[in-house]
Amino acid sequence: MKIYKIALLPADGIGPQVIDAAVEVLEKVSTASGFTVEHTTFPWSCAYYRDHGSMMPEDGIDVLRKFDAILLGAVGWPAEVPDSVSLHGLLLPIRKAFSQYVNMRPHRLLPGVDGPLKRSDFDLLCIRENTEGEYSGAGGNVHKGTPDEVAVETSIFTRRGVERILRYGFEQARKRSGRLASVTKSNAQRYSMVLWDEVTRELAEEYNDVAVTSYHVDAIAARMIMAPESLDVVVASNLFGDILTDMGAAIQGGLGFAASANINPDKSVPSMFEPVHGSAPDIAHLGIANPIAAVWSTAMMLDHLGEANASQKVMAAIAATTAKGIGSTPGRDTTKQITQAILSEIE
Ligand code: NAD
Ligand code: IPM
Ligand code: MN
Repeated sequence: MKIYKIALLPADGIGPQVIDAAVEVLEKVSTASGFTVEHTTFPWSCAYYRDHGSMMPEDGIDVLRKFDAILLGAVGWPAEVPDSVSLHGLLLPIRKAFSQYVNMRPHRLLPGVDGPLKRSDFDLLCIRENTEGEYSGAGGNVHKGTPDEVAVETSIFTRRGVERILRYGFEQARKRSGRLASVTKSNAQRYSMVLWDEVTRELAEEYNDVAVTSYHVDAIAARMIMAPESLDVVVASNLFGDILTDMGAAIQGGLGFAASANINPDKSVPSMFEPVHGSAPDIAHLGIANPIAAVWSTAMMLDHLGEANASQKVMAAIAATTAKGIGSTPGRDTTKQITQAILSEIE
C-alpha cells in the first residue's frame, strides 16, 4: 500500500482548527481510496517563537525536505509577533527554500454559494509567481528612527523566474480554454514589467495555440468584478497575484473558500498546500472558521501526489456539502458542522 508522509504546520489562529478538519478528511479519504497517510505535526508558530525566539528550528527546512508534501494552516499573530518577523520566519522561507515558484489558486463558486457578484459563470485559475519579484526581500533602512529615515525595498525579477512562471501559465491555458491573461503594469514599472511583457510576447510565439492578452493590474482588477467570465488562466507577479487572489476569494464567496498550492513542478522537494486566508484573529475563538479552503487545498495536495481519484472524492464531498446549504453562508455553521458534513459525503 502506498504511504505518503505529510508534514503538518497548523501554526496560528484558525490554522490549527482548519488543519484538524483537513486531517480528518484526509484520513477518511485515504482509507476509502486504499492508501495511507502518515502525518507529523510541527508546532512552529508565533507561540513557538515566544518560547524559542525563532519561528522554526535552524534545521527546519531540512526536516521538511524528507516529507512528500506540507499542509499549512496560517501563520501570523500580529498582537504578539510582528508579521514581518513571523512570515519571514516560516511561510516565506519555505516557499523560497523549496523553489515553490508556482502558487496556484482556483476561484470558482461552489454549488449553493451565493457570491457577491450574484453570478456563477466564472472559473478562474490564478498562477502567482511565488519566490521573487516584489517579495524578494532585498532592501534595508538607513537613519532608522530619525526624520531622515530611508526605506528601500527592491523588487527583483529574473528572466529565469519570469519565464518559468509565464511558461507554467501558458501550459495551464493550453490544458484549459486556451486563453491566458498576463498581468502587467509596464505603463508605470518600466524595467521589471517591461521584461515581463517581453517574455510574454516571446512565449506567445512558441505557444501560438494560446490566445494571450496582457492586462494592466488595475484594469484586470476591475475586470475580475465586471466580467470575470472573460478570464480563464491569469498569470501574475508575486504581489499582484497576492492581491488579485484575495479578490478572487471575495468573488467566490469569501476567504473561507479559497484554496492554494505552492508548487515546485519538478517534484524533487515537497510542495506546500494551504488556504489563501490567514489566521483570522477576529474569529479565532469562535469556532466558525470555514474549513473548506483548507480541505480544498488538501484535494489539491492529493492531486499533486498522484491520487486524482481521492482528490475528486474530496472535491465532490465539498460540493455536495455546500449544495445542501452547509458551509455555504459565511459565519453561519461551525467548523465542526461543516467538517462532519464533508466527512459524511465521503463513502
Ligand atoms: P485573514 O485572511 O486572516 O482574515 C481576513 C478576513 O477574512 C477576516 O475577517 C477573517 O475573519 C476572514 N476569514 C479568513 N479566513 C476565514 C475562514 N476560513 N472562515 C471564515 N472567515 C475567514 O487576513 P488578515 O486579517 O489580513 O491577517 C491575519 C493574520 O494572518 C496576519 O498575521 C497576516 O499576516 C496573516 N496571514 C497569513 C497568511 C498565510 O499564512 N498564508 C495569509 C494571509 C494572512
Ligand atoms: C498569502 C499571504 C502571504 C503572502 C503573506 C501572509 C506573507 O497573504 O499567502 O496570500 O502575501 O504571500
Ligand atoms: Mn495573500
